[in-house]
Amino acid sequence: MTAEPATGSAQGTDAATLARHFGTERDLLPLWIAEPSVELAPAVVEVLRSRAAAGWYGYETRPESIVDAFWQWAADRHGWDRTGERAIVSPSVGTSVGVLIAELTEPGDGVILQPPVFTDFKPQIVANDRVPVRNPLLFVDGRYQLDLDGLEALAAEPGNRMLILCTPHNPVGRVWSHDELDGVAAICAEHDVFVLADEIHADLALAPHRFTPFTSVASSHDVAWAATHGPIKTFGLAGVCDTLLITDRTDVAERFERRSSQLHLTRNNVFGLAAFEAAYRHGKDWLDELLALVAGNLEVLRSELPDGIDLIEPDGTYLAWLDLRRLSLDVPELPRWLGSAGVALSPGHWFGREGAGFARITVAAPTPMIDEGARRLASTIGN
Ligand SMILES: Cc1ncc(COP(=O)(O)O)c(C=O)c1O
Repeated sequence: MTAEPATGSAQGTDAATLARHFGTERDLLPLWIAEPSVELAPAVVEVLRSRAAAGWYGYETRPESIVDAFWQWAADRHGWDRTGERAIVSPSVGTSVGVLIAELTEPGDGVILQPPVFTDFKPQIVANDRVPVRNPLLFVDGRYQLDLDGLEALAAEPGNRMLILCTPHNPVGRVWSHDELDGVAAICAEHDVFVLADEIHADLALAPHRFTPFTSVASSHDVAWAATHGPIKTFGLAGVCDTLLITDRTDVAERFERRSSQLHLTRNNVFGLAAFEAAYRHGKDWLDELLALVAGNLEVLRSELPDGIDLIEPDGTYLAWLDLRRLSLDVPELPRWLGSAGVALSPGHWFGREGAGFARITVAAPTPMIDEGARRLASTIGN
């Protein structure tokens, strides 16, 4: 893996947007977008180059080998041997979330979220005329936990029909354990709440943590569920690739497919087809290197973050959650302060009000960038 940032990676934001968020667009270290900022897997880059060189970009059918590549990967990487689940192609995680909210809940229903959590869920719930219902994570002794008592109380309310479970969790980096997920499955089964497990960060558990697919706890509770997967986060392919929606519920699969065909969500992107399969068939070594880079960069943060900024230890993802509350910056001030320090990080309040005073940094980047980010933060604080 080259230590150089990939051209354009994590920098695909126009200057006006940067200036709006951070008060400046100049000389910002781009560590705020959740994507790897390194040379991508050579097999993926190569297949895209050769697909571009082919000179025809028309209709292309999707061979079954593409979804097979995912199942092979899931078995090898996660010990997930398919037992009756179906994988349906979906243009993005957001598409899957939107379709399932529309199909499985009614206007006015509650959809439970566990903030601080990925920014796009809440606006999608609201845009579908459903109600975001908050079950904030607990922050105990520097570690985030699921509030299972809070979940139980909310799940028992008849209007709350769905839980969006971020697993592993962006932005706090928790890889939920088998027992935690089992608790979620038990509660949601009892109250007939559908679990939409967003597992898009599944491949990014950091040793010794291991990703537990929701399917492995679902079967013992008979809970209705679906999960999102795909190579977009792991391999930095969000701008080109499709994702998958996995479920073992025939009715859910059929409703998803019917809506996909109503909205014609089924068009193939010729580059996406090529990149998806190459990533899963040939990306293993690159991913292992990426995870080693992430572990090394976390070590850099541990030793170089200035007094006043604390690293919340992640179990996984290439995102690290920083606690800046000791700096006592208020919500609008924090992004400007980050801009003045020359580091574009995601301010924590973007992920819900519980994130105020925190910030998310992407650590899938060359170590000199992380070093420089820590140095800039330290010199702005003055230590
Ligand atoms: C947890 C999570 N879900 C979904 C997404 C976005 O997926 P998509 O771009 O396919 O909608 C992200 C992007 O960072 C994410 O972190």
